[in-house]
Amino acid sequence: MEYSAGRDRRSRLCCLLGVVAAVLLCLGTAASGELTDDFYDDCCPNLDRIVRARVSAAMKAEPRMGASLLRLHFHDCFVNGCDGSILLDGSNSEKLAAPNLNSARGFEVVDAIKADIERACPGHVSCADVLALAAKYGVLLSGGPDYDVLLGRRDGLVANQSGADSNLPGPDDSISDITKRFKDVGLNTTDMVVLSGGHTIGRSRCALFSNRLANFSATNSVDPTLDSALASSLQQVCRGGDGNQTAALDDGSADAFDNHYFKNLLAKKGLLSSDQILFSSADAAAATKALVQAYGADSQRFFCDFGNSMVKMGNIAPLTGSAGQIRKKCRAVN
Ligand code: HEM
Repeated sequence: MEYSAGRDRRSRLCCLLGVVAAVLLCLGTAASGELTDDFYDDCCPNLDRIVRARVSAAMKAEPRMGASLLRLHFHDCFVNGCDGSILLDGSNSEKLAAPNLNSARGFEVVDAIKADIERACPGHVSCADVLALAAKYGVLLSGGPDYDVLLGRRDGLVANQSGADSNLPGPDDSISDITKRFKDVGLNTTDMVVLSGGHTIGRSRCALFSNRLANFSATNSVDPTLDSALASSLQQVCRGGDGNQTAALDDGSADAFDNHYFKNLLAKKGLLSSDQILFSSADAAAATKALVQAYGADSQRFFCDFGNSMVKMGNIAPLTGSAGQIRKKCRAVN
């Protein structure tokens, strides 16, 4: 599903202001490097086209792939910054950490994008930037906002499995734990709520939410903040105890990037506990509830803020200048 031209223009205009703010932010913090939106214009002018074509083909084969690529960028940025470390194979691989094992997907698509890029402009484009662009097209081709990705990251030399285990938020974390994990990487409550809206696309395995379906908190019942009709249908999906069965994170609009995720939270239809607590938890700050309501009522605002927070997330501790390297293949250092 393509994004309509009118909405595209409006969103771009609105988001432009945010991107300007994000760029100013980068200039103000030299240590985070100087990413720019035209970094590869001279050395790899077809970069966007190459990435878009591969992501589009992958999503034609499997629409979920847009979501999987978005999540890879998020999981990359929260561990050692956005340095492509999640893509490294090997004994200390982040792929082996609990939040990624049998869960993170899309690595073959990233390999294919990188191989195309190496053919067109060898040695120039980092795997970290490939992830940022793949995430952007995963969002856009699912019907989401078009935002300008800032580029110029270089690739890290090491993976950090224990960092992936400790830095990434889990589905049963409390709202204060999740807030802290975002704060630790420089993201605020608005970033946390709007980026959780990434769950407007994609799937989760039963293993990560089935504790909400029965014997919740050692009671004999379903999580009271989960809609009972949705709970019954999820019980069907997860019956037999196969934790690898999957359900849509955004019930009713699984592959479309829209603000339905937030409407769901208002109706107790968030899939993960970490989704629903943004609206229902007793300790949910008034701020998270108000944001859920605002994004549920105004998809334009959601799209605009989402793009801005993606740029901000993409700015977490990038390697720039002569730090790191440009990997030839994303799975191993040169
Ligand atoms: C707020 C804290 C977050 C928690 C606790 C969380 C947790 C999870 C979990 C448990 C899954 C399912 C994994 C599986 O089934 O193996 C998932 C999927 C996903 N997450 Fe998050 N997540 C969070 C934030 C984010 C953010 C910030 C983004 C992107 C900006 C994101 C994007 C996604 C996407 C797109 C999927 C679906 C991936 C697919 O279908 O392959 N999540 N998340």
